[in-house]
Amino acid sequence: MPAFGNLKPDEIEAIVSYVRAWNKGPAVTYSTQPIQGNAVHGKQLFTQYCAACHGASGEGGRGTGVTFSRPRDLPVMAPALHNPGFLASATDAMIKATLMQGREGTPMVSFSKRGLQERDINDIVSYVRSFEKQPLAESAKLLQVENPVIVRDSPYDLKTTVENVKQAVSNNNFFYGRVQTLDYGLTTPDKENPRQVIVYFCNISLLNQALGIDPRVGMFLPCRITIVEHHGKVQVMSVNPEVLSKLFNNSELNRLCGQMRKSYTTIMEEATL
Ligand code: HEC
Repeated sequence: MPAFGNLKPDEIEAIVSYVRAWNKGPAVTYSTQPIQGNAVHGKQLFTQYCAACHGASGEGGRGTGVTFSRPRDLPVMAPALHNPGFLASATDAMIKATLMQGREGTPMVSFSKRGLQERDINDIVSYVRSFEKQPLAESAKLLQVENPVIVRDSPYDLKTTVENVKQAVSNNNFFYGRVQTLDYGLTTPDKENPRQVIVYFCNISLLNQALGIDPRVGMFLPCRITIVEHHGKVQVMSVNPEVLSKLFNNSELNRLCGQMRKSYTTIMEEATL
């Protein structure tokens, strides 16, 4: 969510009025008065009642980014609460109201109805507020990615390099799929450039894991490594999966893409050794 400093104040207000108009009932305003509670007890309750959906330290549930790709009629994903933007805009009273009333039509139910006392709810609110003073959970941090593309020079000719990549792929527990030219399907077969090819490969368990976390991962699967010969020099290259993961805002996917980056790098290094 970027800042919209380029919009004039009246333009921003116009957008706010438009969004407000979606709500049929009167707008609710919440007190800005801080709520006093016992954050230590709140943490225990959070672990018991909230962590399953919102993450152990409020970093967001499994599949935080999934909502973007799913049809709207599927259950809503629990958002990250350990999130500076959320904490800055939500008052204690608003968080408390969410806990007391729940959000109708979503998996976020009323915890008053689930039997929590108001005092317990105040304790949880204090704990959620205390996220402001804690560093972001390691797993929820945006990945710092150095290079969007992984490239290695090959000392071999194109044909040998392709064979090496295939071999390295199976050495690293992937199935070799196929090799095809970069411009396959974009031109007639006789015009394809045989000096630029892609090796496709796959690992079913990795595939299932990735798709289970976020179906949009399908966009960058199966795994692929491109081998290019240019002026007699051969290079192997692939997109850095960690760069793709950044688009999804999903800590589990970050971990998986980190693993994939390691596998890609190993395969490329083995093939060019
Ligand atoms: C079954 C899963 C589930 C559980 C358990 C759950 N939540 Fe939620 N929570 C959600 C979902 C889904 C939303 C988003 C609802 C929506 O779209 O309005 C949400 C929304 C919220 C919001 C509003 C966030 C915002 O951006 O407006 C707060 C605050 C919150 N939950 C706190 C809690 C706390 C604290 C607990 C434990 C007492 C808890 N939730 C338990 C699923 C859950």
